[in-house]
Amino acid sequence: MKRSIIDFRRMAAEGEKIVYLTGYDYLTAKYEERAGVDMILVGDSLGMVTLGHETTYPVTMDDMIAHCSAVRRGAPNTFIVGDMPYMSYQISDEEAVFNAGRFTKESLVDAIKLEGGTDSVCERIKAIADVGILVMGHIGLTPQFAAQMGGYKAQGKSADAAIELVKQAMKIEEAGAAFILVEGVPAVVGKAITEKLSIPVLGIGAGSYTDGQLLIYADMVGYYDDFTPKFVKKYADVGGELLKGFTAYCEEVRSGAFPDDSKHAYVIADEEAAELE
Ligand code: KIV
Ligand code: NA
Repeated sequence: MKRSIIDFRRMAAEGEKIVYLTGYDYLTAKYEERAGVDMILVGDSLGMVTLGHETTYPVTMDDMIAHCSAVRRGAPNTFIVGDMPYMSYQISDEEAVFNAGRFTKESLVDAIKLEGGTDSVCERIKAIADVGILVMGHIGLTPQFAAQMGGYKAQGKSADAAIELVKQAMKIEEAGAAFILVEGVPAVVGKAITEKLSIPVLGIGAGSYTDGQLLIYADMVGYYDDFTPKFVKKYADVGGELLKGFTAYCEEVRSGAFPDDSKHAYVIADEEAAELE
């Protein structure tokens, strides 16, 4: 059964951890739902993981809608969060509401996520929440601010920076966010934010205390190998398995071992045509 915001609030209140994983396509989402993942994020990490860009900046609304729709078809009974891509919400409340509405109307996601803890982002959160859409805030290491952060670096490492992140989290809750995601911060900062807020706090690289844990699926199954952050644990070797299968296929086609006509070919049904042989 698909979880709702009520379930997530209860889980957070009772200390039942929320399992959160990114997904970008139909097949992966199907396996995630089978495994019992509570919440799938169609992140704009799509740009790097699935589309091969170097950053998340080039991802468009149309990319996100297409992939969110595919994930929805693969995981019809899982709560899905769609990530608002760069420049889909930065310009104005009107554009933010319009684009958040596209996620809800065209790809049937359950919530949207946007990055940042500035006053203008809080205004966007309020505007989107006001039309009835569940919003997840996202602070700490926020890739859409990579240029200003000087790359993908852990945030909140000084006392001042940590206090600033707690303040941002509180403003985001006040603006009407239903959840918040905290990324790439010391464990004590993840803990402080989780203790301070009453909405569910999800973490990625934010320590063990948060109400739930997120990872990029392609990192944790050993698929995406361009770069692996410190906080990732590998649970499988999908890349190795694919390579094994692809290499064996190459060898067998070249040697003639595949296909074996006694197993992998159709036989003719028509007796007259059998004379062809
Ligand atoms: O795009 C994404 O997958 C994300 C997570 C890495 C937090 O926003
Ligand atoms: Na993202």
